[in-house]
Amino acid sequence: IKPQQGSAPPKAKGGLPWIGQMFNFAANPYKFMEKVATTTGEIASFTMLGQNIVLLTGDEASEVFYRSTDDQLDQSAAYKLMTPIFGPGIIFDAPNDRKNEQLKMLMPALRMEAMRDHSHKIVQEVEDIIANWGDSGEIELVEFMKQLTINTASHCLLGREFRYELSEEFAHIYHDLEQGVNPLAYNFPNLPIPKFKRRDRARVRLQELVGAIVKKRTAQTEKPSDLFQSLIDMRYADGTKLDDNEITGMLIGAIFAGHHTSSGTAAWVLLELLKDRSLLRKTQAELDAILGENGEVSFNSVREMNILENVLKEVLRLHPPLIVLMRKVSQDLQFKNYTIKAGDMVWASPPVTHRLSRLFTNPLKFDPDRFSPERKEDKNLMAYQPFGGGRHKCSGNAFAMFQIKAIFAVLLRRYDFELMAPPETYVDDYTQMIVQPKSPSKIRYRMRKDHAHPMRGAGATDAASVAEAIAGGCPFHAAAAKAAAPAEAPKPKVFKVVVDRGLCQGHAMCMGEAPETFHVDSNNNLEIRKPEIKAEEMEKVEQAVKFCPNSALKIVHE
Ligand code: HEM
Repeated sequence: IKPQQGSAPPKAKGGLPWIGQMFNFAANPYKFMEKVATTTGEIASFTMLGQNIVLLTGDEASEVFYRSTDDQLDQSAAYKLMTPIFGPGIIFDAPNDRKNEQLKMLMPALRMEAMRDHSHKIVQEVEDIIANWGDSGEIELVEFMKQLTINTASHCLLGREFRYELSEEFAHIYHDLEQGVNPLAYNFPNLPIPKFKRRDRARVRLQELVGAIVKKRTAQTEKPSDLFQSLIDMRYADGTKLDDNEITGMLIGAIFAGHHTSSGTAAWVLLELLKDRSLLRKTQAELDAILGENGEVSFNSVREMNILENVLKEVLRLHPPLIVLMRKVSQDLQFKNYTIKAGDMVWASPPVTHRLSRLFTNPLKFDPDRFSPERKEDKNLMAYQPFGGGRHKCSGNAFAMFQIKAIFAVLLRRYDFELMAPPETYVDDYTQMIVQPKSPSKIRYRMRKDHAHPMRGAGATDAASVAEAIAGGCPFHAAAAKAAAPAEAPKPKVFKVVVDRGLCQGHAMCMGEAPETFHVDSNNNLEIRKPEIKAEEMEKVEQAVKFCPNSALKIVHE
């Protein structure tokens, strides 16, 4: 069947011959894309250096971007500049099937069982980095978060050899690899410039170190639990193991994907809390209520921190670190009456979609309550997209959310913070490939005198105080109020749980909650063992649905 042909996507105004919109984009990528979307619409085309680009914004057009198959949209073409760093034949330099097999190999180290183990390492890293802080002082927030998140990532993913024995050499290698990320590498990856030469030397040295550790670990009987080990143990479907080049490339790929994305987001969480001190108090009250005086920051306790989670989600809505996602069109695509031609690039832009008033109420306002159970503004997965969507949604999303919440569960209980410059001067730096708060971003900290629950000592058990605490979002009292509330209507006796296979990546959170119902195998495939669930099993399955990081599960009542 001949595909239907529609009209060409509407063209955005402006630009120079061949160069197109290059200068407008370079001046401020976010502002440029927002202007194109506002003036031209949800599908808008323009050129840059002779390449035709189609910007897709809003939930319907984003669906084309996220739901198309790898045969229709090629992810690799957009990320070719990473090949000298990741290595030949790895991820974006591999054929689609191989690339997807490799991407899936990261999952076991990012799923629930592994996360429980990572949680102790993350908390330890936060404790270690603030061990010498004393009572008060100042930090450069972005730099602080970069250091903390590279420590956690190397600890959980690379393992203790890189974190402790080789930490200094690894810091140099990582620096040289990072400096090698340059748009020049799209077309001239081997240009003999000093940056690229240092990048290549660093990649060779990293592989030597990886090779030596593989040898050492193979001889060891006790195996560590980190991504490195899980890659050593991994096999392709045809039974072959990963060689040193592949292990090196996959490790560095995971670190690159998760580092600046997490550090910038973590920095913004603190900045937004300091711009609204009543929200900061509410968040601290929640932590105090959940953790009490000496409660452990653990996988389970962190999951209960709903106010902190909503603050983080709102940070990711207004400050998503990846502001443009790219694919090359391999087969003509249809969107409404338009045809997007093979050879074009398509772009999605999370921050532009996140600020559309038809998708988010009062979109410029920082309002974490938009994610409350009553409003659920993140329900539309094609609208709320800080982690992308569909088959290539960020597989580190649960790790990232957990890690950032754990960082603040430790920091905010111990310290108070304040901005050292006027609030309006803390803004996004859109000139960075991964957007971060603009430097310098100075913050002052001071040890909290009392981190007990503020309402506890006051004996806040009367209705008015409880209501006040709930209005402040305090779960300590919310739970008490729930217990006192009249019993809810009985739930239907029979229900079914269904999975959207296009969204499930195999994080296995469901299996952790309700192992009788869900099983995720070593290839990340979910089997629902008992789709029809009895009322008494409801609670566990509801937890499984709630904690699925991809919102891939749904309960259907009959
Ligand atoms: C992909 C965002 C942290 C691993 C992505 C994508 C986005 C994203 C938007 C989709 C890219 C695309 O479609 O082209 C973020 C944000 C993070 C974060 C905002 C932190 C706040 C992490 C962490 C890891 C990670 C901590 C691993 C430890 C990955 C991987 C992919 C990915 C492996 C590729 C998935 C695939 O193509 O199948 N991330 N990320 N990310 N991310 Fe993250």
